[in-house]
Amino acid sequence: MKKGMIKATGPFERVVHWCVALSCLFLCITGMAMMYHSLNVIGTLVGGMENLKVLHNYCGIFFAVSLLFTILMWWREAGLFSFPEDMQWIMAAGGYLWKVEKMPEVGKYNPGQKMFFLAVAIFGIVMVASGLIIWFPDGYTVDTLRLMYVLHALGFVVIFAFFFVHLYLVTIGAPGSAPAMFTGWVTRGWVKTQHPKWLKEMEKDGTLIVYGEGKYRK
Ligand code: HEM
Repeated sequence: MKKGMIKATGPFERVVHWCVALSCLFLCITGMAMMYHSLNVIGTLVGGMENLKVLHNYCGIFFAVSLLFTILMWWREAGLFSFPEDMQWIMAAGGYLWKVEKMPEVGKYNPGQKMFFLAVAIFGIVMVASGLIIWFPDGYTVDTLRLMYVLHALGFVVIFAFFFVHLYLVTIGAPGSAPAMFTGWVTRGWVKTQHPKWLKEMEKDGTLIVYGEGKYRK
């Protein structure tokens, strides 16, 4: 770790992120393996389609618990929009699509990230609810079950599409982001560019943790 790095996330935040992220990806891959005949071959890796379905269903429970922690942990920071700066950021398309001279200063999560969080939260709940009904279909009408299959597929399309945008943004789109979820430490330059309002807030209320200072002094 280099001196001057800024603490962006704690271990709990990172563990919850990776639990929801990895279980979500596992569900997407095993779900596609069941949906598309051409991907059924993935089932042979785990001893057949029956096993794949069992793994998918139990991973769904793990995802549901991780999602609950994700929502409890981030709903305030990533689930609520703050005006007017978030609206100005949306009107400028985050500065990603055309040149913007001065971007509005956003906090720990920008509106694009908030939209991703909300998509994961809302469609994640849809996936868990529809998945449970498909798993335990007794007592439901055929029409209800058909609707659940449609919702389950819709939720997958939304989350999977958003995932690629998320992956692009935390790597190529906003370089320097990934360490936030691996080591928890990011450069001051990255925080200043990506989340200037958050940096100012932390400096003001004394919550800014800098590597090489205070209890992180070597
Ligand atoms: C495997 C590749 C992934 C990588 C490298 C990755 C990395 C990251 C990073 C670096 C952040 C913090 C961004 C920042 O503070 O600016 C983040 C946030 C987040 N990640 Fe991921 N992530 C991955 C997969 C996922 C998946 C599959 C999900 C969905 C279930 C997910 C859900 C979230 C959420 C909800 C946030 C907080 C809001 C946001 O920043 O958009 N991540 N991720």
